[in-house]
Amino acid sequence: MNTNQTNRDCFSCKFGVFAAAVGSAVGLGNIWRFPYLAGENGGGAFLIIYIAFVFILGLPVMLSEFVIGRRGQGNVFRSFKQLAPKKPWYLVGLMGITASLIILAFYSTIAGWAFEYAMISVKNIFSPSAGVVDHAQVFEQFHTATVVPLVWMTVFILITAFVVLFGVQKGIEKYAKILLPLLFVFLVIFSIRGLTLPGSVEGLKFLFYPDFSKINGGVMLSALGQAAFSLSIGMGTMITFGSYIKKDDNLPRSAFSISIADTFVAALAGMAIFPAVFAFGMEPTQGPGLVYVVLPAIFEQMTGGAYFAFGFFVVLIIAALTSSVSLLEVPVAYFREEFRMTRRTATLLGTAISGALAIFTTLSFGPLKHVKLFEKTIFDNSDFFASNILLPLGAFFVVLFLGWFYDIKQTKDEITNQGTLTVRLFPVFVFIIRFVAPLAILLVFLKGVGLI
Ligand code: TRP
Repeated sequence: MNTNQTNRDCFSCKFGVFAAAVGSAVGLGNIWRFPYLAGENGGGAFLIIYIAFVFILGLPVMLSEFVIGRRGQGNVFRSFKQLAPKKPWYLVGLMGITASLIILAFYSTIAGWAFEYAMISVKNIFSPSAGVVDHAQVFEQFHTATVVPLVWMTVFILITAFVVLFGVQKGIEKYAKILLPLLFVFLVIFSIRGLTLPGSVEGLKFLFYPDFSKINGGVMLSALGQAAFSLSIGMGTMITFGSYIKKDDNLPRSAFSISIADTFVAALAGMAIFPAVFAFGMEPTQGPGLVYVVLPAIFEQMTGGAYFAFGFFVVLIIAALTSSVSLLEVPVAYFREEFRMTRRTATLLGTAISGALAIFTTLSFGPLKHVKLFEKTIFDNSDFFASNILLPLGAFFVVLFLGWFYDIKQTKDEITNQGTLTVRLFPVFVFIIRFVAPLAILLVFLKGVGLI
């Protein structure tokens, strides 16, 4: 075994790496963000473009990140320095660290909402016996308030910090393995309930029947941002993880399975949500509150709905936690290795920065609703800046680096585990990271921000 690896945290077993990476990928991105963006951006056409981006661009970027991390054996910043000494590539790492602190902030806002919903489901208001409840009203009242959303955001980010304090192996793996299958089961049950509601077919049409007239530069950029967000790429999560992966693990296979699993969960979340949206005559375009308004309406139609609601929101919190932990791990690894901080100090610092920002993203739904820049709230700006600007740029530089600047023989060596694995698609991978991905990302990006 490689000696550098012994003093770094290392995932214990193969399933551990996989579970932790899937745990990072699967989270609010699939269940909260994907449905609300698909709803806003026209449904079917968005889904198709998003899936195309995941497999043509996302998967190769993820594999590239694994290569950089496992080769560089360090945090994002150090891995780049290791592979390209005295070159400014480490700036890509710094960009990633910035992105992770911003994403963690608004992620905590949304995950905090799930706590409130777990609590109110205990009060039984999502069950048939509770009588008529206006879920849009319940949501509106809660998420525009000041104290309660702040409290739940704080609870969430502190739990994230707590898990990160215990280190990679013990902290992350344990949760990921058990809970993801459960999330899956819940989504299947809700899809079935949603699909058996009268009028649900419209929702399926919306999700699967593409209307390409809805596509424009902004929609394409959202789909690209969502592909990156959902796969946890473009900012170094997968680079940091790559540095923990064992030298004999199969990188292409891991990247492929993670992408499949992640996309499947997003599609399933769509199936749980859109049929119900149409059956209940709701608006698919209502924005970030979509899941929090639609799912309770489904629970209400189910025997034992309150139990399902409680179970679901608890599992959602944990899925969010396995992602937020991977977000915090990026700056923590950086602070530790570059500034010689203890894991504890590094965790405190990362949590403090994100937490401070999260106060603003949380309040931007209520008291700070009218504080706007480019006609967007603080929340929308943070999400847009991190997901649609920093992540695509990060992904762009990752492929540019491996495709054009790093020795391709070294990349091949890393991907094939020093020639012990046969990777038949390697030439395809090279073609994508050299030509397809950089060009496609750049075009979508420039078009999306209106520069071309
Ligand atoms: N992918 C996670 C989700 O879908 C969120 C996440 C975790 C993430 N790590 C990331 C997003 C790194 C972008 C980059 O919920």
